[in-house]
Amino acid sequence: MDRRPFATTTHWLRLGGLCALALGIALLDTLTDREIAIGVFQVVVVLLAAGFLSTRGVTVTALGCAGLVLCSYLATRTGDREAGLVNCIISLLAIVAVAALSLRLEAAKRAADAARARLVQAGRLSQLGELAASIAHEVNQPLTAIAASGNACQRWLSNQPPQVERAVQAAQRVIDDAHRASAVIARVRSLVRQAQVAKDWLNLAATVEKVLDFVRAELAERQVAVEVRLQEGLPPLLADESQLQQVILNLLLNALDALEGVAPEQRRLVIQVGQDTAGAIRLGVEDSGRGLTPGALEQMFEAFYTTKAQGMGLGLALSRSIVEAHGGRIWATSLPEGGTGVYCSLPKDPQP
Ligand SMILES: Nc1ncnc2c1ncn2[C@@H]1O[C@H](COP(=O)(O)OP(=O)(O)OP(=O)(O)O)[C@@H](O)[C@H]1O
Ligand SMILES: [Mg+2]
Repeated sequence: MDRRPFATTTHWLRLGGLCALALGIALLDTLTDREIAIGVFQVVVVLLAAGFLSTRGVTVTALGCAGLVLCSYLATRTGDREAGLVNCIISLLAIVAVAALSLRLEAAKRAADAARARLVQAGRLSQLGELAASIAHEVNQPLTAIAASGNACQRWLSNQPPQVERAVQAAQRVIDDAHRASAVIARVRSLVRQAQVAKDWLNLAATVEKVLDFVRAELAERQVAVEVRLQEGLPPLLADESQLQQVILNLLLNALDALEGVAPEQRRLVIQVGQDTAGAIRLGVEDSGRGLTPGALEQMFEAFYTTKAQGMGLGLALSRSIVEAHGGRIWATSLPEGGTGVYCSLPKDPQP
């Protein structure tokens, strides 16, 4: 199992590297007697920091680098003081400019990520809206006919004497129309199952990473520690990547919602991708959130079931239909240590 606790080992190694680099540059700046602005190279430290630290982290790094430039100017004993002061000012200006630009770039990237996530959500809604409209239209016809035949049946039976034969005919029409309505539903379901699925061989671990990229800024902002556990040598999976991305995004968004109100140091998210004993690919999203409300376990995969003020109750229902369209299954459990785990099992090569 390849365990990668984000924001832990790698994070601290990178931070250590950054500090070493900043101190190395400051030392060189202090010891060298050449009239060049070595402190300018602190911009490299700020640029590297912008690659993996939050806005606050980049600001602190830039301030630290500026502090080091000032200290090394004050500690320098050799060379021309005036040239040293000019070099110090050049270095400080460069650090401020680079930090400001990196922060603006980061803000733009966040806005783009948020827009992408909204786009996925909007796509989901419009797909659903179209589907609902077509179901409503097609089912309405037999339903109207059922109501009419039901009324007729009632009339024939309440006649004196009751006209049983005609009532039986009306009841038969009710049954026929009910079959017609359920045939419409079956057709729509098979449409969802086949027509919208564009399957290709993919690596589920890579798909998870892509979705994490959407929400990484959000995760950092909400101070959620994410651990991704990927089983090595995972076989490829025949699936529709954009649909699986929707499933993963839905599970992550639910986990983030569940983590609201939990103390920051206890906000944990574990994403697992592995293979179960039957060879199917298994995805798990576990959170240390507030857990399931009573009754949620039975109903959470049903459309329009929600416990959230702003929720639509569609994320899991849609995820279930996608997973089932891939021949898989999805389920949830309350974790013994608190929080919730939602899991999907997907066959590598589902039969059409
Ligand atoms: N990780 C979780 N922890 C606790 N409860 C959860 C979790 N995931 C889902 N639920 C429960 O299941 C319900 C249904 O989830 P679902 O994703 O279908 O809808 P929603 O999140 O309420 O709204 P949306 O349609 O915007 O996703 C949620 O309202 C919540 O009560
Ligand atoms: Mg949801």
